Formats: sequence, C-alpha cells, structure tokens
Amino acid sequence: MNTDNFKLVEGLRKQINYHNYRYYVLADPVISDYEYDMLVKELEKLEKEHPELITPDSPTQRVGEKLTGGFKQVNHEIPMLSLENTYSWEEVFEFDRRMQKELDIKPEYTVEPKIDGFAVSLMYRNGKLIQASTRGNGLRGDEITNNVRTIKSVPLRLLAEDKNLMNIEVRGEVVMPKKSFERVNKEREARGESLFANPRNAAAGTIKHLDPQIVAERELDMIVHSIPSVPESYKDHYTTLKYLSKIGLKVNSDIKLCKSIEEVMDFCNSWEPKRWELPYEVDGMVIKVNSFDQQRRLGETTKSPRWTIAYKYPASQETTKLEDIILQVGRIGTITPVAVLTPVNIGGVTVSRATLHNADEIARKDIRVGDTVFVERSGEVIPEIIKSVIEKRTGKEKIFKMPENCPACGSKIVRQGGEVAWRCENLQCLPQVQRRIGHFVSRNAMDIEGLGGKVIAQLIEAGLIKNFTDLYWLRRDELLKLERMADKSVDNLLKAIEESKNRDFFRALFAIGIRHIGIHAAKLLADHFPSIDKLKEAGLEEINAISEIGPVIAGSVVEFFENPENLKTIERLKKAGVRLESNVGTGLKPASTKSLAGKTFVLTGNLTGFSRIEATELIESLGGRVSSSVSKNTDYAVAGESPGSKYDKAQKLGVPIINEEEFKKFLKSAE
Ligand code: IVH
Repeated sequence: MNTDNFKLVEGLRKQINYHNYRYYVLADPVISDYEYDMLVKELEKLEKEHPELITPDSPTQRVGEKLTGGFKQVNHEIPMLSLENTYSWEEVFEFDRRMQKELDIKPEYTVEPKIDGFAVSLMYRNGKLIQASTRGNGLRGDEITNNVRTIKSVPLRLLAEDKNLMNIEVRGEVVMPKKSFERVNKEREARGESLFANPRNAAAGTIKHLDPQIVAERELDMIVHSIPSVPESYKDHYTTLKYLSKIGLKVNSDIKLCKSIEEVMDFCNSWEPKRWELPYEVDGMVIKVNSFDQQRRLGETTKSPRWTIAYKYPASQETTKLEDIILQVGRIGTITPVAVLTPVNIGGVTVSRATLHNADEIARKDIRVGDTVFVERSGEVIPEIIKSVIEKRTGKEKIFKMPENCPACGSKIVRQGGEVAWRCENLQCLPQVQRRIGHFVSRNAMDIEGLGGKVIAQLIEAGLIKNFTDLYWLRRDELLKLERMADKSVDNLLKAIEESKNRDFFRALFAIGIRHIGIHAAKLLADHFPSIDKLKEAGLEEINAISEIGPVIAGSVVEFFENPENLKTIERLKKAGVRLESNVGTGLKPASTKSLAGKTFVLTGNLTGFSRIEATELIESLGGRVSSSVSKNTDYAVAGESPGSKYDKAQKLGVPIINEEEFKKFLKSAE
C-alpha cells in the first residue's frame, strides 16, 4: 500500500514538474491550466492523507515559513565575479583583438542578452535544489533558498538523470518580469505604499524579503546564464546552455554563436530595439568566448573573467531627487530652467543636471522642487526629466514660478508671440556675452584652445573684450598684466587666436552664432555660398531652396544680415583677417580633433568604401557614437546602397540623411 502510494505521488510529481517546465521555462504548455490544477490537487490530497510521503522538493512545497532572524551567510567556493562593461564598439573590437592575440586563433563567440536582474547562485545535489544564495560581495552572500524556491521557473528537481550535472552549481539572474512589476506597483499604489523605481530594484527588494509568501506573490523569474565549474565532458558555453535548458533550467535562449566580431556587432545591434519586447529588462549583450578550453586558457582577473565582455546599450532612466531649479541665460538670451539633481548614475555616467526645457513644460508635467523624478539619458544627449513620482510627495515640494527679471542682469524678461521660451533682450547681459564668445571659440567653431569660461570672464572683466571680434585685437602686453597669464600661456593663446583666422568657412559661419544655424546647417550654407558676402546678398527664397534648409533657418539668416550691428561684426572679422569664404583648393585643414563629439549616427544600407566596422571605428575615433536605431536624438543617418527601414524612419523624424560621398566629406572635415 505504502509503496503504491509512494509510486503514485512520485508519478504525480514527475508529471507536475514536467508541465511546470513546459509552462514556466519553455512557455509552451501541453496541457490546460485546469488539467494542471487537477494534478496538483490530487497530489495535495495524497500528501495530506500521507504526510510521511512529503519531500522538500515536492512541487507543493515551494512556499516555506517566514524567516524571523536575518539571512544566513554562505561562502561561494568559486567567487561570483562581475563582467567587464563597455558602451563603445572600439573597446569591443579591442577585446576581440586581445582574444585573437592571446589564443593565436580567431575564437567563436556567443552573444546573449545581458539581463538586468539580481545575480543568484543555485546548488543542486543529486539533482535536487539544496541552496540558493545572493552574490553578496562575490565571496560571501545571503542564503535565500526558501525565496528562490517560490520561483516557478526554478526546478526544485532537475529533469534528466545526468551524472555529470546532478551535482552542479548554476548561476543566473533573478528578475521581476515587466508585467509583474506593473501589477506589483499598481497594488502598492492602491495600498499607499512606496513604488519600486524599476524592475531590477523590485527583484532585489523581493528576493531578500523575509516572507516567502510575499516573494511567491510577486512572481519572480530566473534566467540561468552560466555554470562556474564546468564538467570535463562539456566543451562549450553554447551547447551547455542548450543542455541546461533540457534538464529543466530556464536559460538565455536568445543566444547566437558568432564566427566573427562583425557578426557579434550585427547581432548586438539587431537586439537594441528588440530587447524591449522581452518580458524582462535587458541592458546590453554579453559576448563570451565559446570554447571552455579557450576560456580556461584566458583565465580571469580578481574582478572579472578575461573571456567575456558586456556591450551595454545607452541606458534609459533612473529616479533621483530634484533638489533645485536654476535658470541659465543662453547665448541668445533664452532663459532655460535647469534641474539640479541628487547625482545619480545612469548607464555609467553620473548625472547631476538635466534640462527642463521651459516653464510651460514644467507646469504641464507638474514638476516641483523636492520631487522624486525620472531622469532619462540616451546616448550623448542632455539628460531630461520625464516625470515626477507623485506618490512620493510629502507636501513640502515647491511649485516653480518663472521670475519677471533676468536672473543675471535684472532686465525684464519677455516672451515673443508663439514662443515658449522667455528671453532676456539685453545684449550686454554678461552670461550672454560670455556664451557668445564661448560658442565662437568652441571646438566645432573656431576651436581656439586656452579660452575656457574662466579666461573669457577674466578678459571681459578686465575690459579687454566686449565681444568675440575683440579677441583678434588682444595685445601681448595687456594679457601679461592679467593674473595667471605667464609668457607661455599668452604666447599659446595668441598663437591659437591667430591660427583660428584660417578655419573652414563653415566653422566661421557657425561660430558667428546666427540663430538656428547649427554646424550642419552652416555646412549646407557654406557648400552653397562660397563667401559670407554671397550669403548676405542671397534672398530668402534662394536660401530656402537649399535642400534640408527650411524657412526658419532662411528667415534667421536674412534677419541676421538686416541688423547693422551684425554687419559691423562681419566687417571687423574681415578686417582681422578671418577667412569668411570657402577654402576650396587652399589645402588648409581644419584643426579640431574629436569633432564628432556628442553626435549620434545610424548606418543603414551597404557602404561601398568601408565595412560597417570601419565606418563605426572612424565615427568613434572622432568622438561620435553609432546607434542601431533611429530616434529623434539621431544626428545623422548615413545611407548606403539599398537602405532599410531606418532610412524611412529617419525621413519621418526629420533626421538629416547623408549618402556615402557626403559621409566621406563629413569625416574629412571632422578629422
Ligand atoms: S555571465 C561574470 N551572462 O551581469 C561571470 N552574466 O553586470 C559570467 N549578467 O555578474 C557571468 N546577464 O550577474 C553572464 N547573459 C549573462 C548575464 C550576466 C546578466 C550579470 C551577471 C554579472 C553581472 C555584471
């Protein structure tokens, strides 16, 4: 009788475990929920009648008792290391070169999503889960077995009987799927509890909860990505992961075996937009040398294995506190509210300032000083405040109000019809003067080294300059009288100013600071008009007719030349010897380096002159970034032959599209 019952419960457990695996691990059930529930009910009934048959690995035993003390600490026999991270392709290529050099051959790589979760180790003995622990400090973590047992995708018993793998440690990431995250936060909101900022925090907070019942309700998931101690007979990461999946573990299934770093790059890029479709958050791709033998040869540092690197996607959002809103006066007098934030790390960069655009935007989003806010940073653009977390308000937050006077010079500020921006119209307003000069000397403009904000302020204060044209009349003896200005720095400064007279025409055009003329528009204008005089003579229509130049830019150019003050500026620049015409045929090279800094490119279609890697390397070597998807933050789309959907998207979003020839010219001028 007893043996019959034993066979019965064991039979039921095997069935339930298998269906559990089909449902939670493979997401491919073969029976209905009802049939599954019936199996569980039958097992529960038998276990109730025969409590002596209950085993800890029975599927009915996932939720254990509440923990009263803290968690027990356990050692990791093999340290839980971290991963080397990078945001740049150049560093990934460098990694590839290093691997090839150390191994003496081209290794095969696997590429798989980097799951933004909480690292956990699982110990199996005789195929049964005996322990789960957190990473802790890498050497010692918390024992969280009871909590991990509630995760339905973690098998309490491995499926197949494989001697090699019955006693193994596996490691992976515990995540809170986005769906559970939304549900959990909704429930918390309804109960007036504080919200989890993101799924990763939610997973971390949950896995260390003292009550397994609560952990079970939160519906965590776990994705296994590695085994620290590899059995002899296992040859490589790729087949091992596939095998781990067969014995019941949920693994990173979106894994690809790649024969070259080009293939790696394509796969990573193809996942940048696709990753949002996954049920959990992915913040990059992990590139691993596939062969275990090669991995062993490469070894590890105390921090991370040498055979792997994570390519991280530019990060999205974090929450932090809005400490203050300050006002900045721009080059053309625009008064921009700027958020002062409690510094927060977003994708490897510390962010302490973010733009709030304008007063209307602050009111529309109801953002108050003291709020907890979501800050988004994508690529190189200025971080932006997305929204406030209303639930976190204490009542002490302050509503922002635009002052009536310029915070710098005290003049009344104005708002022109139809514009959202408030402006200070006093052209002598110090920050404006300073910024106009700062813009003029900046890298993409006249690129005058040695003229940082402090030196400019010093020169203005000493009465040596009132505007940027005065720079060309600075005298050695006057400069030497200034503090911190020794012979050498004065010579260098005067030399840099002298050299700037020969910059490309488009740079000078950009430097002058005509409203709405960015570096790209300046190039378009300089390509069309060989000199500033020709541009001055051109009418609205002629300028407007240039491809990519619209009526706003055209209008702004015309308006600029209608102002006698501006004409004086041009005359003074000419008199100083600043070249205000194209340098075709002069053989002169612009001097700036890293002049693509902050620019994001998207490559689409086939380029004939370069491989994708070469183009990427070139852009990155000049300080730019290559992204795989087009957004409003993309600066240029480079279209090769038969471009794909990115071309259409760039067109839709109004992103400038350049062809290969233009791209080459662009690189040349940026060198
Ligand atoms: S392999 C370091 N593969 O990211 C030992 N780790 O930020 C090899 N992670 O500590 C780990 N996704 O916990 C590996 N597909 C993946 C991963 C992954 C996320 C975690 C891991 C690591 C952390 C570093």
